[in-house]
Amino acid sequence: MAGLIAQSTLDQIRTASDIVEVIGGCFPLKRAGANFTALCPFHKEKTPSFSVNPTKQIFYCFGCHQGGDVFKFLQQYENINFLDAVKRLADRAGIVLEFEQSPEYEKRRAVKDALLEMHSGIAHRWHTALLNDAVAEPARDYLKRRGVTEEAVKLFQLGYAPDDWADTVNWARGRKYDLNLAEQGGLVISKEDGGRPYGRFRGRLMFPICDEQGRVIGFSGRVLDPETKGAKYVNSPETPLFQKGRVIYGLDKSRRAMLDEKSALICEGQLDLIACHMAGIRHVAAPQGTALTSDQARVLKRYADEVVLCFDSDTAGQAAAVRSLDALLEAGLAVRVMTVPAPHDPDSFIQEQGADAFRKRLTGAESFFDFHLRRLCETHGTDTDAGRRAVLREMGEALRKADDAVLADRCAQQTALALRVSAEAVRTEFAKAATGKPAPVEPATPAPVAPVAKPTPLEYWLVRLLFLAEDEQVKALATELELEWIGHSLVREVVGRRMEAAAQGDWRGVPALLSELDEAAAQLLTRAMAARQDVPAPSTQLADLVNRLRDQFQEKQLAHLTRELARTDLTDEEEERLLREHESLRRRRMEAANAA
Ligand code: CTP
Ligand code: MN
Repeated sequence: MAGLIAQSTLDQIRTASDIVEVIGGCFPLKRAGANFTALCPFHKEKTPSFSVNPTKQIFYCFGCHQGGDVFKFLQQYENINFLDAVKRLADRAGIVLEFEQSPEYEKRRAVKDALLEMHSGIAHRWHTALLNDAVAEPARDYLKRRGVTEEAVKLFQLGYAPDDWADTVNWARGRKYDLNLAEQGGLVISKEDGGRPYGRFRGRLMFPICDEQGRVIGFSGRVLDPETKGAKYVNSPETPLFQKGRVIYGLDKSRRAMLDEKSALICEGQLDLIACHMAGIRHVAAPQGTALTSDQARVLKRYADEVVLCFDSDTAGQAAAVRSLDALLEAGLAVRVMTVPAPHDPDSFIQEQGADAFRKRLTGAESFFDFHLRRLCETHGTDTDAGRRAVLREMGEALRKADDAVLADRCAQQTALALRVSAEAVRTEFAKAATGKPAPVEPATPAPVAPVAKPTPLEYWLVRLLFLAEDEQVKALATELELEWIGHSLVREVVGRRMEAAAQGDWRGVPALLSELDEAAAQLLTRAMAARQDVPAPSTQLADLVNRLRDQFQEKQLAHLTRELARTDLTDEEEERLLREHESLRRRRMEAANAA
């Protein structure tokens, strides 16, 4: 990673980043002789043992023994990697890094910078309007009715977008902003027939969405009048700044608290999160109404060891909790679930029952597996064999993802209790779920390491085409291609990385990626790139390839569903669900075939 940046550049950045100034910019430092001291940000203490030495340009804590240079400090304090710390400090010192010098990079960066400026400008304007303008009276009343304090309005920079089609456009023109750019940023919409461009957000309460550094990158706007037609929330579309599955609302304001608590409370919506903040619960973030993605889970893992899911009490909310599990476990997070009684969401619960009642539930949040077991028992029933078998199967499935023997054992006992069967039977069933095969007898000799399956020719071809394609093509492709269609995990990783780089606008070429991949993935990429064949018309081929991958995947799913349907121990409900899935999948396949 460090190899990406020349030693001379690193030295230049170090020289330009005085450690006392950098740390002093994060929290106050007190002079003590030749050094400076402060309360240590990395552990809890009452008397300062954190010290900064300006001559040596290092920091050290005599309490928790953390220490290092200015890069190390920023890494620890901001919880970012070395490269990001370097970028941050380079930015601060106005130093341009070598890999930022390509013309495309500059262009993308210029677009992002301009969009950031525009977002910050309009957030400010809408915020001022909410605080002062006469037309925002209904919005102020609304917030008062919902118990949102002025302090919270300011902290979250809430705003009001006037109910006027031309307002945003006029604002952008007045500021001499390029309207095309405003459209790329999702603030303005142009009709295809060349009609007048108009603002996306009108007559709505505006929630700016910030990145981890607190810069506004998108908006969510709520209607004030429930009678208004259209969606309750209008959100920024995917833009060069904003990717919904990647950002987590509120993280910029909650991340210190998450680090302190080592825990993240996850609510669905903006107003839930604001209600928590007002109740003094600050380690909270919101994926904005959907299940958590793996990207979001990985970000959370940088701040917390566990997450507590507190989704709405409705079925959609509870299902979103279950759907978040895979991503969270994969990221290595422990998961607990906290519920609020129906029909509440966290916001309405806190309004009605108060912060203490909420905090009590938070403390008592049960492990995800206890929650899951309870729900499965309720859904399938424990009085019939079919019901009990369904519970066992789904518990086994969830536990397989956790991959934790101690946990599995504890759950086996609880599941046995709930189903009134022997723990031994449950363990056997769980072991089946873990391998997809009957529980192993004693392994006599250590099993030989299974050779890693080779990617299919289609998968090789995908890698090769994708890495020859331009960023624009890759981005377009990312909207078509689902990673789950790719069976081979290394291919999935490499393809995912390329699409991620395109989406973020920081594709730095194959060599840079190779240095970040682990050995096996790097080998795969090298092999795919080393193939000699010419590639005529790569973009047509790519589109074709994606269709074939989707077809194969759906084919497999159909076969799986058919197999499941053939089972004799299905409950009526299960059978109906499978039939419905089968039918909808079949219909999608037909539609795709007709479109092609
Ligand atoms: N959401 C969205 N688009 C919608 C509905 C919901 O983006 N059409 C997202 C929003 O981020 C919202 C979250 O999903 O905050 C949760 O949805 P919901 O529970 O319906 O809204 P609340 O946040 O509870 O909003 P309110 O209390 O104002 O009804
Ligand atoms: Mn809600």
